[in-house]
Amino acid sequence: MGQFPAYRSRRLRQSAVLRQLVCETRLDVTQLVLPLFVRSGRKLRRPIAAMPGVFQLSPDELIGEASRAHQLGVPAVLLFGIPETKDAKASGAYAANGIVQQAVRLLKKELPQLLVITDVCLCEYMQHGHYGIVQRDKSGGRILNDPTLKLLARTAASHAQAGADMVAPSDMMDGRVRAIRTELDRLGFTETPIMSYAAKFASAFYGPFREAAESAPKFGDRRSYQMDPANAAEALREVALDIQEGADIVMVKPALPYLDILYRVKTEFGYPTAAYAVSAEYSMTKAAGANGWIDERAITLESLLAMRRAGADILITYAAAEVARWLKAD
Ligand code: PBG
Repeated sequence: MGQFPAYRSRRLRQSAVLRQLVCETRLDVTQLVLPLFVRSGRKLRRPIAAMPGVFQLSPDELIGEASRAHQLGVPAVLLFGIPETKDAKASGAYAANGIVQQAVRLLKKELPQLLVITDVCLCEYMQHGHYGIVQRDKSGGRILNDPTLKLLARTAASHAQAGADMVAPSDMMDGRVRAIRTELDRLGFTETPIMSYAAKFASAFYGPFREAAESAPKFGDRRSYQMDPANAAEALREVALDIQEGADIVMVKPALPYLDILYRVKTEFGYPTAAYAVSAEYSMTKAAGANGWIDERAITLESLLAMRRAGADILITYAAAEVARWLKAD
């Protein structure tokens, strides 16, 4: 056989400089989005038990939290509101002076450079915790798709009117992206982008969030409108529909257990793609880290890098501020 000039990948791993030169994927603070929870009050920082480091914040505290993250380089936040009262029409979602609308105005006034994205959903504002108008029947209840679209469009418009830079519909009603796009355009917000939760699975990984946003459904579950975790082709169809309807950025959620979906969405459509590392992804890492079972920092960074490698341009993570600090220290 003689000498075989084998490729030896080890040659390129000999020094940090070489490793950096051949590095294919990078994590950068400019890709991070920090989700934040706001509720009315003053000086309020109500901890979420299953999400250490995450709080329900009153608007004054929200400014502090957003400003600290922004100073570390986090360019954007994703806002969720917890209203004081809930009803069957989700009135709080589109009230001109609702909690999210107030918070957006304040954020844009105090931190004009920070990109403010709002979660557009009715579940936090509905008595029953579902995404849409419910018609009760013998089997529990049925969500009425089309009447819900009007409320979603109204909610998105009220966020834009308050100054939101981008809206992110997170329900999974059919036709919501078109309804929101049409309403935004009608009101002159033609430049406000839509980041749609396009491939959103009916996932147990949202558990801790429902405590954070106080949005657990009071009856039934979300399987009639979120996707079956067994389905991948369906996820691609959902994404295709949202793009046709006018989504500017498509999101896959959860992130780490759905990297195959992320990869396929990016490969198939080549659209700006966001990955949402959801509440339980955060909780599990925190819990194992606190026990000393894993290296929290290393696991968090590796997980986010994996999302980038799979195709995510944008990383939505509760750890955004910490990650920014770690990246800075590196
Ligand atoms: C709906 C919404 C949810 C999440 C983001 N937007 C919860 C749900 O669909 O039940 C989950 C995010 C997370 O788990 O971190 N408003």
